[in-house]
Amino acid sequence: MPFLTRHFLLGTAGCVALVASIGAHAQDPIVIKFSHVVAENTPKGQGAQLFAEEVEERLGDRVRVEVYPNSSLYGDGKEMEALLLGDVQMLAPSLAKFEQYSPSIQLYDLPFLFDDIEAVDRFQQGEAGQGLLDSMQERNIQGLAYWHNGMKQLSANKALHEPRDARGLKFRVQASDVLDEQFKELRAVPRKMSFGEVYQALQTGVVNGQENTWSNIYSQKMHEVQPYITESNHGIIDYMVITNADFWNGLPDDLRSELDAILVDVTQQVNQQAFDLNQQAKQAIVDAGTSEIIQLSPEEREEWREAMRPVWENFEDEIGADLIDAAENANTSSTPQ
Ligand code: LMR
Repeated sequence: MPFLTRHFLLGTAGCVALVASIGAHAQDPIVIKFSHVVAENTPKGQGAQLFAEEVEERLGDRVRVEVYPNSSLYGDGKEMEALLLGDVQMLAPSLAKFEQYSPSIQLYDLPFLFDDIEAVDRFQQGEAGQGLLDSMQERNIQGLAYWHNGMKQLSANKALHEPRDARGLKFRVQASDVLDEQFKELRAVPRKMSFGEVYQALQTGVVNGQENTWSNIYSQKMHEVQPYITESNHGIIDYMVITNADFWNGLPDDLRSELDAILVDVTQQVNQQAFDLNQQAKQAIVDAGTSEIIQLSPEEREEWREAMRPVWENFEDEIGADLIDAAENANTSSTPQ
């Protein structure tokens, strides 16, 4: 090859390599859209925000997390579809919203299953709980972490002291057959409804009551339209942080490892703060003076437990008896189950 031609070709190759390397540096960051349905001053709202900040700090210009709170991008019902279509990359739905994808996850909706959030934590960190994170891989959904919110309380436009007080009342429930059944056992009328619609439904009387954590009740102003809140602690609201598996597995290895490490740190902080955030929200509701807060005696609480308990049997086959056993063991064991 004549010298000049060879020189020209080498030069061209050099230029291509240079352009490619400049291109790599100037590449737009990978954008992770993280959509959720709650307010920013809640455990999940803060967790999503914290995740975005940590990613900004540790992955600089390579990844950017955009958080869309309060159903501002997608509400319940639409967010999972958006994840599967690749329109968002991360979500943290309440564990009550997975029944179509993994029947076992319905476990978490069983009333009076866990004594407290520490027991929930032990179960989630154990083998069975960790296994559930992988239970939707065939549907292209990968669970990455569990985030706590807290125990559910019952609110209504009527004082609820014992199960029969709930008879005939309409209660909003999340999209969960277990929760639907739970209210039917009380001879109440459950209505499945998106979180974003709850306040208005309570205000206009479409429903008379609902169940949620203190932080969700307060941040959605539900207490302003619910004169009674029974501190029942009858179930939990917790989250699974999930991603589109193809998206996550397609990330460069170093980036994915760093995102995993960030999630571990953020999860620890979210789970440490969740209890306090709920206690603060409860106090804010007490201070607002809008609602009477009803405490249950141990005997009354037992009545609620007995009334809701038949739900367990109805869902045992779908959920799996072993999983229910493992969850129950977490109440008494001091180590992950
Ligand atoms: C609800 O729908 O009641 C909650 O689970 C919303 C949430 O994400 O906390």
